[in-house]
Amino acid sequence: MKILIIGTGYVGTTTGLIFCEMGHKVTGLDLDEQKIQALRAGNLYFYEPGLEELLTKHLQTNQLAFTNDTETAIKDNDLIFICVGTPQAPDGSADLTYVKKVAKSIGQHLNQYKVIVTKSTVPVGTAKLVTSVIQENQTFPIPFDVVSNPEFLREGSALEDALHPDRIVIGTTSETARTIMRELYKDFHCPIVETHPKASEMIKYAANSFLALKISYINELARVCDKLSINVNDISNGIGLDHRINPHFLKAGMGYGGSCFPKDVNSLIQTAKELGNPLSILEAVVKVNAEQPVYFIEKMKQSLGSDLKNKTIAVLGLSFKANTDDTRESPSLILIDKLLEEQATIKTHDPIVKMGVPHQFLTIEETVAGADALVICTDWDDYKNLNWQSLKTLMKQPYIFDGRNMLDKEKVEKLGFYYFGMANH
Ligand code: UGA
Repeated sequence: MKILIIGTGYVGTTTGLIFCEMGHKVTGLDLDEQKIQALRAGNLYFYEPGLEELLTKHLQTNQLAFTNDTETAIKDNDLIFICVGTPQAPDGSADLTYVKKVAKSIGQHLNQYKVIVTKSTVPVGTAKLVTSVIQENQTFPIPFDVVSNPEFLREGSALEDALHPDRIVIGTTSETARTIMRELYKDFHCPIVETHPKASEMIKYAANSFLALKISYINELARVCDKLSINVNDISNGIGLDHRINPHFLKAGMGYGGSCFPKDVNSLIQTAKELGNPLSILEAVVKVNAEQPVYFIEKMKQSLGSDLKNKTIAVLGLSFKANTDDTRESPSLILIDKLLEEQATIKTHDPIVKMGVPHQFLTIEETVAGADALVICTDWDDYKNLNWQSLKTLMKQPYIFDGRNMLDKEKVEKLGFYYFGMANH
């Protein structure tokens, strides 16, 4: 099949590369000239393990091309995936400006029957909206179908998730489109959920919100465990072994961040509110998540003293999770902002992200040198096996606050550190 991917962010690029792997011919369209230039040259402009190799491979086989020529790209392809961003609007809802713009172009340039697929996370009713916008912009009616086919890949393991999904969701009422989508995914060995576009759109929000709910649940429970000196990791393990609960997304920490959970939970809350059916459970999820960095700072104050002014804090990890350079809604940046409000002096380190407050490019040793405490905010593997003995000699005070419960508490305590995790007793 000839597939057009509109929007070459991490979802669009990964999706396109997966389809190349399945033997299809893929064109990536983006209006951002810089992104197109980079991708054409085989340079992934964001950090995502394994993708650059596939990019190089498929550019060489000529199965993959990038363009900013919207008209030709739409006319030349059979299957069009909309993978553009749906940022959060000020009221918490999803901003569909880019999706509507793409739909308008498709309407203007549609030259024969095509299937248009929404891959971006979009609110319930968007497939219908895209259909109307395309129809409104057609000069003469050419049939087409709009399918909802949400993406469930995670940043940092995008390739693995896209190649081996737990399920594929196809939302359409058209038999023709359903047949084409079945053919597209015929080599994937996972259940395929075929449903109405509205249900498909809801599945994506419901999945992300449920995962966020699990995280807030364990984080709030961690606070109670802290009071009772219980190790919350034992609780995650003890409940996670019940297959009805499962062990995933039960890691207590600094709270969830990223470009998806915060935005998607808010969007579903907003949808529910507009319908007069508030989702109070999700409102609590957001509240707990916002409180988590504040709770952690309170923990720091209990040992460092209530006045953090003039204290030097080394922050390890800036990205919202490991294996990505994405700092959107990163709990680390939220914590840094709050520490700055307390007039603490901040030094930052990240293995990939090169930014900080102020812009610093410090080695790990330079970051912790003279620090009153270090805080681990991102669970980068690099931080697991640091030479703690030698780092301790550089610090002013040997305090470790492990916001990801990733260090061996006993090991670092033996070295003379004061260790505090998230209910990691
Ligand atoms: C999430 C979903 O997991 C994907 O299925 C979905 O496709 C994607 O959003 C999306 O909508 O595009 P992602 O945001 O890349 O993926 O990252 P996750 O691995 O889900 O982590 C989200 C946040 O939760 C991170 O800040 C992570 O550190 C935190 N988290 C995760 C925890 O605090 N505890 C956990 O146990 C798991």
